[in-house]
Amino acid sequence: MLRAGGLVALPTETVYGLGANAEDPAAVARIFRVKGRPSSHPLIVHLGGAEYLDDWVEDVPATARLLAEHFWPGPLTLVLRRGPRVPLEATGGLETVAVRVPDHPVGLALLSAFGGGVTAPSANRFGSVSPTTADHVRAELGEAVDFVLDGGPCEVGVESTIVDVTGDAPSILRPGGVTREDLEAVLGCPLEVPSTSRVRVPGQHPSHYAPRARVVLVEPEKVVAEAGLAQELGHRVGVFLPAFLADAPVKAHAVVTVPSSMAAYAHGLYGFLRELDQQGCDLIIASVPVEEGLGLAIANRLRRAAGPRPS
Ligand code: TXA
Ligand code: MG
Repeated sequence: MLRAGGLVALPTETVYGLGANAEDPAAVARIFRVKGRPSSHPLIVHLGGAEYLDDWVEDVPATARLLAEHFWPGPLTLVLRRGPRVPLEATGGLETVAVRVPDHPVGLALLSAFGGGVTAPSANRFGSVSPTTADHVRAELGEAVDFVLDGGPCEVGVESTIVDVTGDAPSILRPGGVTREDLEAVLGCPLEVPSTSRVRVPGQHPSHYAPRARVVLVEPEKVVAEAGLAQELGHRVGVFLPAFLADAPVKAHAVVTVPSSMAAYAHGLYGFLRELDQQGCDLIIASVPVEEGLGLAIANRLRRAAGPRPS
């Protein structure tokens, strides 16, 4: 299917990707059409192993090799200088390219059998919640995708961490499945993390990863009171109830109790947002976790979900 120019949804450890042959500009163009994503937003090229890195990028700095060695296969994406094999269609015209080796047996088996690079954004419509099961992909993209390769639910549940290694010092463009602390431990230096309010790279607008329901973030202690108030005002309120309030009585249309383990929270996050949408909530009241470890990526996604939406 990939060789024939088709679109294949593939499982990774983070979220499902909408894959196409990276070297087939027509297939890559179809990804943008299906997602409804502006063609200037660059895609990640997925490879079957770190040994293919030099086929796709140029001038790989030692830092990039170190990170690849430690974290691949895994939820880390490296931004490097584009090699001639990568068409500009895949990079949104940029001279850099994002690459990663996903840690999923089924996804990796596909990449190895295919042999080439597979460009794959998350397999959702532009701006909405990323899919973490094959059913999410089918529900959202339906016939628009040629094949959905079902590898079960994604383990990590939030997208890869993107690290730009083209400059003098590496910097995090998007927090994700590999924690800042783990990266810093390997690099032996502190890393800059983006503020959610500024658009750093194309495709990182404030409103992203958003469910249909409006998302409002409040302090954890205020979640129950705010939910009750909004429900009384006539909203169909969905609540992300902090674990320490699990037994509190809540006046709301639907309640999700947030796991106290950040790994479990990340794993469930997009499913929770989808679930509250499905239950017909028009407003979701949540709070951000402490921004350490995977909490940084979770907070980033929640802030973006709550960000201003295009009208
Ligand atoms: O976990 C993931 O990374 C998932 C799975 C499918 O691998 N993919 C994913 O792709 O999240 P997508 O397209 O939804 O997000 C890719 C991000 C975008 O924010 C894009 O701006 C950034 O990667 N990106 C891609 N190429 C870039 C480049 N050359 N420079 C800076 N940012 C880049
Ligand atoms: Mg995405």
